[in-house]
Amino acid sequence: MSLSIIILAAGQGTRMRSKLPKVLHLLADKPILEHIVLAAKKLQPEQIFVVYGYQGEKVKARLSHLPVTWVEQKEQLGTGHATMQVLPSLNPKNKVLILVGDTPLISAQTLQEFVASIALENLGIITTKIANPFGLGRVLRDDQQKIIGIVEEKDTTENQRKILEINTGIFAVSASALARWLPQVKNQNSQGEYYLPDIIPLAIKEGVQVMGKEVASQEVQGINDRVQLANLERDLQMQKAQQLMLSGVTLRDPARLDIRGELFCAEDVTIDVNTVFEGKVQVGANSVIGPSCVIRDSVIGENVTIRSHCVIENAVIGNECVIGPFARLRPESELAKGAHIGNFVEIKKSLIGENSKVNHLSYIGDCVVGNDVNVGAGTITCNYDGANKHATIIGNEAHIGSGTMLVAPLNIGSRATIGAGSTVVSDVPADALTLTHRLDQRTVNGWQRPEKKKK
Ligand code: UD1
Ligand code: MG
Repeated sequence: MSLSIIILAAGQGTRMRSKLPKVLHLLADKPILEHIVLAAKKLQPEQIFVVYGYQGEKVKARLSHLPVTWVEQKEQLGTGHATMQVLPSLNPKNKVLILVGDTPLISAQTLQEFVASIALENLGIITTKIANPFGLGRVLRDDQQKIIGIVEEKDTTENQRKILEINTGIFAVSASALARWLPQVKNQNSQGEYYLPDIIPLAIKEGVQVMGKEVASQEVQGINDRVQLANLERDLQMQKAQQLMLSGVTLRDPARLDIRGELFCAEDVTIDVNTVFEGKVQVGANSVIGPSCVIRDSVIGENVTIRSHCVIENAVIGNECVIGPFARLRPESELAKGAHIGNFVEIKKSLIGENSKVNHLSYIGDCVVGNDVNVGAGTITCNYDGANKHATIIGNEAHIGSGTMLVAPLNIGSRATIGAGSTVVSDVPADALTLTHRLDQRTVNGWQRPEKKKK
């Protein structure tokens, strides 16, 4: 016997008040539904079905990279009806795990334990207790504490509304029992919907055991509106922050960190407040980052200092580099060991050699800078002629004076010095001073500053 997993994701999510289907809203930069599919995948099931409906083409297109079978529910007539759409494709010998598309924090481990604990002949349901169960299906139990059904908020009596144990929407059941029970589910309720939990009384009628597994509420919180979405985002971020701290990272404030992808840190990294990590980022030991940086898809070495307000994307930063404040590293930037990139400097698709410094107000694009080079304030590589990009090569120990325009393509020899304010249009030899024509300097003696007119 193998496992089939069904994820119900056809609903609009009315309470989100959004044109975007609920399951495509982002949690840590990933669609809500993708989190659930990734957890499901870890169970290595034989089949994963996603029931889609509301704006289905959009959902399928956005998540086309996921290894699932898409099953359409043309009209959203309820969770029972949604599950029924999968019946023809289910392997009838399998155990089936049914998940809802809006509880993204559920862990693979919890699901694994749940599936293992429910025998093929029984019906399993994950429940939890929460302080404010408003809007959710309440678990009804008899005098012996046996589960006898679920009642939806809109169908509850005043007494039932006081029940704090709720249905998480997660069920385990055999495919064959599902095929017997689902066609018998009726829609005689206040929403006129076919409710999946209504298979419980049908199971009991057949003498099937209904096994409730209660889990901690944090994992199974659903997202029905944007307040819950924001709360879950914070919960997820706090989990990530705690894992980092336990692995040896100092977070100046774990509540002010956003990891929207994967962050791998060696020991004794320190991260200051309000830094956002996107994509895949790796940070070496003893490096210090932030506050208020945005770092995406980058590899950062050991003992690196990234000061406040840097934006770094697709860059490789060597050990002992010092960056910022207010620096921008654009894609394909690589800094060798000990390079310094200072304030208001933009680096694009360039290699900066060991111990070289670009410290103030510069643009370096399509450039290879050697070792121990000093690039003066306000230097610009003029790399674009309006049609094509051209390269600049700067040799070791060159000294580029402030305010220099380096018009590419250009080669600057090792140990060359460029006079401040030069516009360099052709290659520069090594070991010499090169400077371009300067206007004569003159002084006007006795010149009067204009004065502000009195009103
Ligand atoms: C559902 C449960 C409720 C439970 C809660 C937990 C039912 C009737 N109610 O309520 O007992 O406490 O989840 O979060 O099952 N969906 C479809 N097709 C449909 C309707 C829904 O695919 O026709 C999908 C939705 O996309 C969603 C999931 O099923 O992912 C649950 O639907 P939702 O409308 O959020 O149900 P709740 O009111 O939360
Ligand atoms: Mg819901």
